[in-house]
Amino acid sequence: MAADAAPFPYLRWARAHLDPHDESSLGLSGRRRPPAEDLPAGIRPPWPPDGPDAYTLWREAVAAHEGLPGPEWVHPSVGTSQGNFVAYVAFARGGKIAVETPAYESLPCMGKAIAAEVGTFTRVPERGWRLDPASLEEATQDGVDLLVLTDLHNPSGQRLADEDLDLLVQVAEAHDAVVLVDEVYRALDPLDRPTAVHRHPRILATNSLTKCYGLWDLRAGWVIGHPSLIEKLDEWEDLIVPSIPPAPMVDAATFLRTSARRHLEATRAEAARRTAQVDAWVQGRDDVHWTPPVGAFTGLLFLGRAGAPLDGDIVAARAWESEGIRVVPGSFFQVPPALRVSYLLEEAALDKALQGLGRALDAVSQDKD
Ligand SMILES: Cc1ncc(COP(=O)(O)O)c(C=O)c1O
Repeated sequence: MAADAAPFPYLRWARAHLDPHDESSLGLSGRRRPPAEDLPAGIRPPWPPDGPDAYTLWREAVAAHEGLPGPEWVHPSVGTSQGNFVAYVAFARGGKIAVETPAYESLPCMGKAIAAEVGTFTRVPERGWRLDPASLEEATQDGVDLLVLTDLHNPSGQRLADEDLDLLVQVAEAHDAVVLVDEVYRALDPLDRPTAVHRHPRILATNSLTKCYGLWDLRAGWVIGHPSLIEKLDEWEDLIVPSIPPAPMVDAATFLRTSARRHLEATRAEAARRTAQVDAWVQGRDDVHWTPPVGAFTGLLFLGRAGAPLDGDIVAARAWESEGIRVVPGSFFQVPPALRVSYLLEEAALDKALQGLGRALDAVSQDKD
C-alpha cells in the first residue's frame, strides 16, 4: 500500500487515493472548499478555479524558460530558500556538505539545521572570486554528499567559471554527491548563460522570481535538474510543504511567459549604470576596493587601506547612526572587514547614500588614528 521508502508514507498514499472532488469519500481530513461566492467580497479564491492545475502550469513555464526537455525536470518551490532546503534534506540530511565561503548565510546554516557536517571551500577575491581547489579538496577529503554555491556569487556578484563548475562535478562524481547551484541572481548576467543544469546530470539549480524580477511576494521558485534527482525532491516535498498555494504559481507562469524578458533587460541596463556609479565612487577613494559585479547590483566592498583593514560592523553601525544609511556588515558573509552593498537605487539617491557611507568611513578612520 504505502511506499515504504517514502519520507511521509501516509501523505504519499493520500495523494494517490484521496480525491478532493469525491462526494462519498470518508478519507478527506478537511472540509470541502467553500464556493467562491461565500468568500468575503473582493477577494478572489486562492485556487485557480478552472484549467490545468497550477503545478503543471508552473513546471511547464519553468522548463520552457530554462530550455529544459520537459516539466519532469522541475520541482516547484516556495522561493529559492525552500528549494534549497528540500535539496539539503533530500541529499545531505545527517551527511556532509561543502559550502562556498564567503556565502549567503542561509547556505551553511541550513546544513547545520539538518544535522549535516558543514565544511567550506573558498572563493578567492584576488583571483576574480574563482574557487580555491586546495580548500575544496580539504573540505571534501572525508567524503561529501552535497556541494553548494551561488552563481552569480552572493556577495561578490561574480559569475561562476565553467572550469570551477567542472571541478565541483568531478568531486561530486568521486563521492557520489550532488552539486547545488543557487542561481537566484544568474539572470542578471548579461552573457545570458544557461542554467548549470545543462552541464551535468549531477547538478541541481535553484531559483525564483524574487531577486532579479522583484516579485518577492509571489514566492514562486523552482529547483531544476535531471528527473532522477527531481523525483527525490518530490518525495520530500510531502513532508516539508505538502502543497504550494496555486494562485501565485499561475501568476508567475504568466509572468515568465509574457514579461520576464522585458523586465530583465530593463533591470540589467539599470544595474550596469549603477555599478559604474559605485565603481567611480570606489575609484575615488583609497580606503575601499572591490571587483565590480558582472551584471548584479550587489557587491562586496573591502574596507581600509593596505595593512589597515576597517571593521565592517563598525562602519555599518556608523553609517546608520550618523547618516541613516543601511549597509550589510560583511561579517554576515564571513568577511568582517567588508560591507555588502545592494545599490539598485535612483541615481541621485545612490549618490547621496555613497556620500553618507564615505563620511562614515572617514569618521571611523579618524577614530582609529
Ligand atoms: C543566494 C540567495 N539565495 C536565496 C535567497 C532567498 O531567495 P528567495 O526569496 O527566493 O527564497 C537569497 C536572498 O537574499 C540569496 O541571496
